Amino acid sequence: MDFFSIKMRSSLEDDHISGHERIVKKADIEDVLLQLYKRGSRREFDLLNIKIEKIREPIKIVQKSLKLVDLRFDSFSQANIFAVDLLNEKTGISKNILKKFIDQIHTGACDGRNMRGAMIVDISGRRLEKDRSRGVRTSMVDFIDREKIKEKLEKKGFTERTLDALALSTKNLHHKQILAEYCISDETDYVTGYVAVDGTYYRLTPLKSSGSKYGGRIYFVKSEVNIEDLYYYLQKKPVLIKEVDIEF
Ligand code: COA
Ligand code: AMP
Repeated sequence: MDFFSIKMRSSLEDDHISGHERIVKKADIEDVLLQLYKRGSRREFDLLNIKIEKIREPIKIVQKSLKLVDLRFDSFSQANIFAVDLLNEKTGISKNILKKFIDQIHTGACDGRNMRGAMIVDISGRRLEKDRSRGVRTSMVDFIDREKIKEKLEKKGFTERTLDALALSTKNLHHKQILAEYCISDETDYVTGYVAVDGTYYRLTPLKSSGSKYGGRIYFVKSEVNIEDLYYYLQKKPVLIKEVDIEF
C-alpha cells in the first residue's frame, strides 16, 4: 500500500511558529490536510506551507512505542537532578557533561537563542551536529492508527502533544547509536519535558521554569556514530509505530 508524508510549517516574519507532520494512506490525505491547516492556523502566521510527498523508501515498522512513565516533581530543579542522575546511570555519561549541555538548552543553546533542531552530543561531550544553530530535526514518523493511540492516551489524561513527542523519541531511540534524549519545549507556558532512555519515555513535570522561552533537544550518542547515517535515519527514514506502551 502507498503511504504519503504530509508536512506543515508556518512562520511569521521569518520566525518559525508551528510545524507538524503525518504519514497517511492516500484515502486520508484530504482529511489530514484540513487537520494540519487547522493546527497551523491556531496562531498568527504570514506563511503556511503544506507539503505532500509519496513515500518511496521502505517503511520501518516498530511494534511498540517506548514505555510511557509519568513523574511529578515539586520544582524544575528537582526534576533536572532526577534527569541527570538517570542519564548518568543509564548511559555512563558524566554528570558534568550532562549538566553542561542541559544548562545550555535552558539558556539558549545557540548564542542565547534556541536551536532549530536537536543538539547531538557523544559520550565524551563532543558536539557532532553539522550546523550548530540548525542541529538535526527528526522527521518521517507517525503512529499507524493515530486515532486509536490518541484515544488510549486521552483516557489516561495525555494530549496529542505527548503522542507526537512519544513517536519522535521512539524513532530516535530505535537508532542503535542513540543512547538517550533530553527535551524541553520552547513554549513559555509548557513546562513538561522528557528524558527517553533504555526503552522508557520519562515524562517529567516541571522540567523547565514557567515563563521561560528557552527549549531544545539533546540526542546523546555513542562516540563511534556515523554522522551521515544518523542524519539520513533521523530526517529521511520513514517509521510507523503500531502500539503505545502504557498500562491500561
Ligand atoms: N524550529 C525552527 N525552525 C524550523 C523548525 C523548527 N522546529 N522546523 C522547520 N523550521 C524552519 C527552518 O528555518 C528550516 O530551515 P533549516 O532546515 O535551515 O533549519 C525551514 O523551516 C524548512 O524546514 P524543513 O524541515 O525543510 O521543513 P518541512 O516542511 O520539510 O518540515 C516540520 C517541517 C516542522 C514538519 C519538520 O521539520 C518537523 O519538525 N517534523 C517533526 C514534527 C513532529 O512532531 N513529528 C511527530 C509526528 S508523530
Ligand atoms: P517542541 O517539542 O516543538 O516544543 O520543540 C522543542 C525544541 O526541540 C525546539 O526548540 C527545537 O530546538 C527542537 N526541535 C523541534 N522540532 C524538532 C524535531 N523535529 N527534531 C528534533 N528537534 C526538534
